[in-house]
Amino acid sequence: MPVSDCELVDAWRQVLDLSGIAAGRTVTVLTSSDTNAQTMRTAILAAQARGAIVNRLDLLPVNGGVSLSRDPLAYVGTTPLTGNHAALALLKASDLVLDLMTLLFSAEQHEILAAGGRILLAVEPPEILLRMVPTAEDRDRVLAASKVLRAAREMHVTSAAGTDVRFTLGDYPILEEYGFCDRPGRWDHWPSGFLATWSNEGTASGTIVLDRGDILLPQKDYVRDPVTFTIEKGYVTDIQGGLEADLLKGYMESFNDPEVYAVSHVGWGLQERAHWSVLGLYDREATIGMDSRACAGNFLWSTGPNNEAGGTRDTACHIDIPMRNCTVSLDGRAVVRDGKLVKETGE
Ligand SMILES: [Fe+2]
Repeated sequence: MPVSDCELVDAWRQVLDLSGIAAGRTVTVLTSSDTNAQTMRTAILAAQARGAIVNRLDLLPVNGGVSLSRDPLAYVGTTPLTGNHAALALLKASDLVLDLMTLLFSAEQHEILAAGGRILLAVEPPEILLRMVPTAEDRDRVLAASKVLRAAREMHVTSAAGTDVRFTLGDYPILEEYGFCDRPGRWDHWPSGFLATWSNEGTASGTIVLDRGDILLPQKDYVRDPVTFTIEKGYVTDIQGGLEADLLKGYMESFNDPEVYAVSHVGWGLQERAHWSVLGLYDREATIGMDSRACAGNFLWSTGPNNEAGGTRDTACHIDIPMRNCTVSLDGRAVVRDGKLVKETGE
């Protein structure tokens, strides 16, 4: 349902306030062919009203000829910034980049952040942004749960459907997504509200069984028949199931890259304003599926790159797989039980 410019300007104002953007700061709005015009317009209005110096950088799309999907997260690694030193210089000189294009998983994003820049990704449609405009409480909830994750050395995930998988933790950083950038060098995504980390290389091991209603992204399907993943030494080594499993195998094979089978980030959702049902209410090209990624009490795991976490794996294929009704335990302590957040660890 549409939202008014006034509502979205107010939402941006809240995001900019939480990100500490004051008069004289430089905000660059990064756009491309698929950027939502209202999101861009209202971002510029809100930043200008803050007294910020506002740039707009519009870059040409890439990967259209090689990706099998229009989803911006379906083919990652190469972006319009690749080899574009002039654009990169502008972004590195900005206090805050509002990424309305999708730089995620690019080496250039890492370079901007390493230089102390901040990047906020915002590509969901305006009404989803408005429903999940970030708050300080979102940050507090994510950071409280992050303390538990940071201390853990093993994540164990089980489900009645048959999931039983373990991840050794500690070598990679924790991704705390709460929807705004309140310190230099920080990347975040509006809307969000979840935690993720990466298992130590070669350690993910066990079985993951998607149950009816679990979600594949960027396929944006609720699976109808169980899909069973065998995971050995950090890689998916077998996928069995019905139609969704066959289609997924074909999609992953199309990249012709053994690294597509690596286990990527693992974590769980903490956002009560995210809803599992939303994916079924939108056309596939109208959303990237953040409701399912952030939904409180989910287990979210993925395959593909780890360069976002400082690793060297930069495969172009990234599958995010949010699951319901799992129990997620850290060193034997449940943070999610049967798909519900355990209160004392960060609801
Ligand atoms: Fe992901």
